[in-house]
Amino acid sequence: MNIKIKRFNSEQDIDEIVDYDIKDNKTILESLIEVKIKYDESLAFRCGCRTGICGSCSLRVNGVEKLACKSKLNENDLIEPIKNTKVIKDLIVDLEHESKLLKKSNTFLNKLEETTISKEDEKLIDTQSNCILCQSCFSSCPIYEVNDKFLGPYALTRALRYVDDKKESHKVQTLEKIQDNGVWDCTLCGNCTMVCPQFIDPKTDIMNLRMKSVQNGFEDRSMQYMTGAGFAGGFDTGFDPTGGFNPNGF
Ligand code: SF4
Ligand code: SF4
Ligand code: FES
Repeated sequence: MNIKIKRFNSEQDIDEIVDYDIKDNKTILESLIEVKIKYDESLAFRCGCRTGICGSCSLRVNGVEKLACKSKLNENDLIEPIKNTKVIKDLIVDLEHESKLLKKSNTFLNKLEETTISKEDEKLIDTQSNCILCQSCFSSCPIYEVNDKFLGPYALTRALRYVDDKKESHKVQTLEKIQDNGVWDCTLCGNCTMVCPQFIDPKTDIMNLRMKSVQNGFEDRSMQYMTGAGFAGGFDTGFDPTGGFNPNGF
């Protein structure tokens, strides 16, 4: 079986796709290990748990984000590093942005509320708490091509986890932190949701955060834009004053 690996060597500034012949019926991670043992011990990639829970082995397979330890290899698969961050070597990328994004979006307990936690309260934040910070959603998000300051899917999903946490008494503070380059900058394309190995739905979490933002007095900036300079002050609601409702606004 053939595997193609995009390799980047920062010392020589070389970026090339290399083919390797390997045994089939393996996970991508096992295949990478085989390449390292059999052909080139300098091949660089990350892995920790090998069971899909540490999030360190995320990469792109034919352009789609996957965990190497949980994905089977197919003939001629092209393996590349995740996007939207600097490649250090081969499949290893710089993860410096991770703590920065989490810090900026206030995704930690700010002020503890002394309260009783029920099973339902736990359930409410259970899904978002399962994020393994694999960066797959971050890599799949198209916003980074136009705005590298975007807080992004996993940071926003984590923000919701704390906004919904009964133990957090400073929820509005967290909502405030995710207004700029945050909830209103997402196009709701759903790429993040499609690639999440933990079945988290960052797109819906962002919509939820928008609703909670408005409920707490923050302005919907996408509407601001449409009613402002972007649409020359005239957003068409579809309402036709001369008769009837025209849903298409024609
Ligand atoms: S839904 Fe939003 S956060 Fe998710 S990938 Fe699309 S633009 Fe990015
Ligand atoms: S939300 Fe999903 S895809 Fe994004 S970092 Fe967390 S586990 Fe990975
Ligand atoms: S090695 Fe831990 S998730 Fe793949």
